[in-house]
Amino acid sequence: MSDLKRGLSEAAFAAFEALGLPGELGRVTASDRPDLADFQVNGALPAAKRAGRPPREIAGQVAERLAPDPRLAAVEIAGPGFINLRVSDAALSARAQAIAADPRAGAERLARPRRVIVDYAGPNVAKEMHVGHLRSSIIGEALKRLYRFRGDEVWGDAHFGDWGFQMGLLIGALADEDPAIARAVEELNAGRAPNDIDSLEAPAFQAVTLEQVDRLYPEAAARAKSDEAYRDRARRITAELQAKRPGYYLLWRHLARVTRAALERDFHALGVDFDLWKGESDVDPLIPAMVGELEEKGLLVEDQGARIVRVAREDDKRELPPLIVVSSEGSAMYGTTDLATILDRARSVRPDLVIYCVDQRQADHFEIVFRAAELAGYARPGQLVHVGFGTMNGTDGKPFKTRAGGVLKLVDLIGMTRDRARERLHEAGLGEDLPEAEFDDIAGKVAVAAVKFADLANFRGTSYVFDIDRFTAFEGKTGPYLLYQAVRVKSLLRKAAEEQAEAGPVMVADPAERDLVLSLDAFETALAEAYERYAPNAIAEHAWRLAQAFSKFYAACPILQAEPAVRASRLTLAQATLSQLELALSLLGIVVPERM
Ligand code: ARG
Repeated sequence: MSDLKRGLSEAAFAAFEALGLPGELGRVTASDRPDLADFQVNGALPAAKRAGRPPREIAGQVAERLAPDPRLAAVEIAGPGFINLRVSDAALSARAQAIAADPRAGAERLARPRRVIVDYAGPNVAKEMHVGHLRSSIIGEALKRLYRFRGDEVWGDAHFGDWGFQMGLLIGALADEDPAIARAVEELNAGRAPNDIDSLEAPAFQAVTLEQVDRLYPEAAARAKSDEAYRDRARRITAELQAKRPGYYLLWRHLARVTRAALERDFHALGVDFDLWKGESDVDPLIPAMVGELEEKGLLVEDQGARIVRVAREDDKRELPPLIVVSSEGSAMYGTTDLATILDRARSVRPDLVIYCVDQRQADHFEIVFRAAELAGYARPGQLVHVGFGTMNGTDGKPFKTRAGGVLKLVDLIGMTRDRARERLHEAGLGEDLPEAEFDDIAGKVAVAAVKFADLANFRGTSYVFDIDRFTAFEGKTGPYLLYQAVRVKSLLRKAAEEQAEAGPVMVADPAERDLVLSLDAFETALAEAYERYAPNAIAEHAWRLAQAFSKFYAACPILQAEPAVRASRLTLAQATLSQLELALSLLGIVVPERM
């Protein structure tokens, strides 16, 4: 059974067509005036313009055709020619019943599933993650889950940044600090790279820790800005690393491993897990042949010692720089590995769509890479999509930094939010009597819900201010509020089970029940919108409305105290609400605890 809105749209489509008018005019939308109607059709106005007839006359004819529909209790013409639809209690009851029985809680499956890669998070070796990575992780994870849920075959890929200039910088800085490392690098570099270099172990590097990396990299990055010789050395090391100079290569491998392990752990704590953890370095072997092919296709141009692909077009409104394929030092650049990754993915996954969930500030980078890929015949137009987003800002309106002015580590952000969530739980008198381990687990879930919901509640293009107090509040449009509502339904259902009160056939009657079912019915529309616009905020909005509708229903309609048939009906409504709310939240990457 499809949702009421779609079912009614089909009926209205047929009504317009029967009158010799375009069926699309029969599009049904939620009513602007819920006090007057549940749904409305506005197509009579444009139809009147085309046909040169009064809109109310056309609306009347459409209404006449719709009126006998058993799903409709009333069909009325309003104002200049709007058609107002009120759904019957019986149709709402049947819809609620179907949602309650549906493991997908009323959501459809795609008719034509695609193969989709979501490229998100994009963490790097050494470089600390900033808020752009956090937003990418949250939004990308939600898109991955949504696409998969609707039926696409989806691969989430972290696209690990492990092959750039920062590697040369870091290797140089480590050697500067620790003579033992410098010696080991030198000794290994003196030999030739054996074919089986990947099975080689270099014990000298085992001692290098993440703390060392985190401490050395920012200093090195700062020094490279002003010290040209230092910068040049890092560039040279980067190029030699990419040529697999053994000392650099083995140290690099150790760094990539320790960083990756720590990152995966931090992401996991945030409910972000990848299907593929491909690094930029993984596509390095593809680069020589790719460069040859670009050359053959006449796309590669020499430019001040570098080799580039020009992608600018005559009608461009702003000047787009070329794609630098090989730098003047001979190394692969950020765009080079991105282009090679497109090639790699085309061969391994053959995706119909690749979603790059990356900071809006990289829009030009992707435009350049996508154009180059199309020129080279590696991708079709529309196959590669950059899904950009705004920044998470501090109260100063600039991208969020810690109090010390540094970039915010993901773990620290979660830790900080978890502390605040603990306080909030205490303030609200929640979870006090639970075992400590469970309380901690709940605080963790509240923290993740707070951070993710605050991010996903806005359209991704919008920047927002990180406000930990507001995000963790149990009142208002927040993640914790939604968790609290969902937990409330869970405890209601537990209580019903204890009292052996069973759920049964839905009989919608009260206005609050009608509103709740209409909210439940809107799930599919929200999912479709989120899917088409790469906009998980549509799901967040839906979850929020559903929770509010439930809260009103709960206040207006006694459940356990009602007479058995009414109680049974309301319990089914509560079950349907819980399953849909929990599902919607899970698509956002938010987990509901059992109790609070
Ligand atoms: N590592 C990059 C950064 O930190 C993000 C990677 C995004 N994905 C991509 N395919 N370029 O900016």
